[in-house]
Amino acid sequence: MRIAVIGAGYVGLVTAAALAELGHRVASMDRDQRKIAALKGGAVPFHEPGLENLVRRNVRRRRLAFYDGLSEALRGSRVVFLCVGTPPKKNGEADLSQVWSAARSLGKKLDHSVIVATKSTVPVGTNRKLAGFLRSARVSVPVIVASVPEFLREGSAVRDFFHPDRVVIGCEDSKTTQTLMAAFRKIQAPKVVTTLESAEMIKYASNAFLATKISFINEIANLCERVGADVEVVARGMGLDTRIGSAFLKAGIGYGGSCFPKDVRALHQIAGTHQYRFRLLKAVIEVNRAQRELFFKKIQRAVGGSLRGKKIAVFGLAFKANTDDVRESAALDIIRLLLRAGARVRAYDPVAEENAREVLSQPSLVYHASAYKAARGADAVVITTEWEEFRSLRWGTLRKLMRQPIIVDGKNLLAGVFAATGQFRYYSVGKGKGQISV
Ligand code: UDX
Repeated sequence: MRIAVIGAGYVGLVTAAALAELGHRVASMDRDQRKIAALKGGAVPFHEPGLENLVRRNVRRRRLAFYDGLSEALRGSRVVFLCVGTPPKKNGEADLSQVWSAARSLGKKLDHSVIVATKSTVPVGTNRKLAGFLRSARVSVPVIVASVPEFLREGSAVRDFFHPDRVVIGCEDSKTTQTLMAAFRKIQAPKVVTTLESAEMIKYASNAFLATKISFINEIANLCERVGADVEVVARGMGLDTRIGSAFLKAGIGYGGSCFPKDVRALHQIAGTHQYRFRLLKAVIEVNRAQRELFFKKIQRAVGGSLRGKKIAVFGLAFKANTDDVRESAALDIIRLLLRAGARVRAYDPVAEENAREVLSQPSLVYHASAYKAARGADAVVITTEWEEFRSLRWGTLRKLMRQPIIVDGKNLLAGVFAATGQFRYYSVGKGKGQISV
């Protein structure tokens, strides 16, 4: 099947390369000419395990090609996946300008009948409006709109595409549904076929529920510290109940990234515009914000109260491991709080330094090329991203480089390793015994 994918960002590029791997002929289009030029040269503009190989392999097989113009990309396509960004506006609402700009271009360029399948996360009702727009006089050929939300996670996006828990197809036309089913035939997962609105809602409700799980376990963690319980054991005990499930019960410094914060805020906003007060989501957002502040206070207490002039080594800038994405990263918020308190921050991340530099740069913040360099003279090491490599660092060497043997672990990455050795004063999240409770 010939498929065009508009937008070569995170979702778009993974979708395009993976659809090509499934055997389709895919045209990946982005109006960013520099990005397309880089992709033509085989360079993927962000860090995602397995993606570069997938792109190169399918370009070589001539199943995947890149375009910066829409007309060429649309040629012969039966399905057009819309994968443009929907970043948050200041008030939490999703900014749909890229969706409408793509729709206007489609309106001008379409010369044959296609299915427009939206993968971008858009507020409930948007796809119906899009269908109305594309049906209007401006477009001379029949166009059917479907909502095919994307659930892939950064860091495991390629695997998630081929092995999803489900494929959701919001479409009210049976022939179109069959075509979309055919596009995903090789994906073995339950297919949920439903209306546009329900499909849009599944995406928001799923992300909001997962974010709720995280805020819930973070509150349990805070309580564990006070009552002398261990959140990791509590989460394991809870997760074994199949009605609860063990995923997304890791306590820490709150969720970040390009999806959860924006989607939870957007759903709260959508509820508001329909005169519904979604009280639970408001609390989820508030707990997530507070979790970062609580962790900052924990660092403050660990180093004896004042952070002024203290050297703090921060290990991790990405919003989670295996990605270079720093959008809404808790690590950056914690660095901001440390800097505001007068600390001198020495930061290290295996891949996210460049992205972090673009959004956070000031004299009291120095980026280092290794954990060892960052730890030199530090009054404390703070762990903010769960990179595996931090587990296998030579901690004995680090101990000698540091001024004080303090570790404050926001991801419970080293829990159990240091708690009992006496080598470090080790503080983590949600572990009642021997921890600082704030
Ligand atoms: C998420 C959804 O999982 C995905 O389905 C959707 O398509 C996009 O948003 P992603 O943003 O890549 O994916 O990251 P995810 O792995 O879900 O983690 C989100 C945030 O939650 C991260 O900051 C992570 O550190 C945090 N998290 C996750 C926790 O704090 N605890 C957990 O138990 C799980």
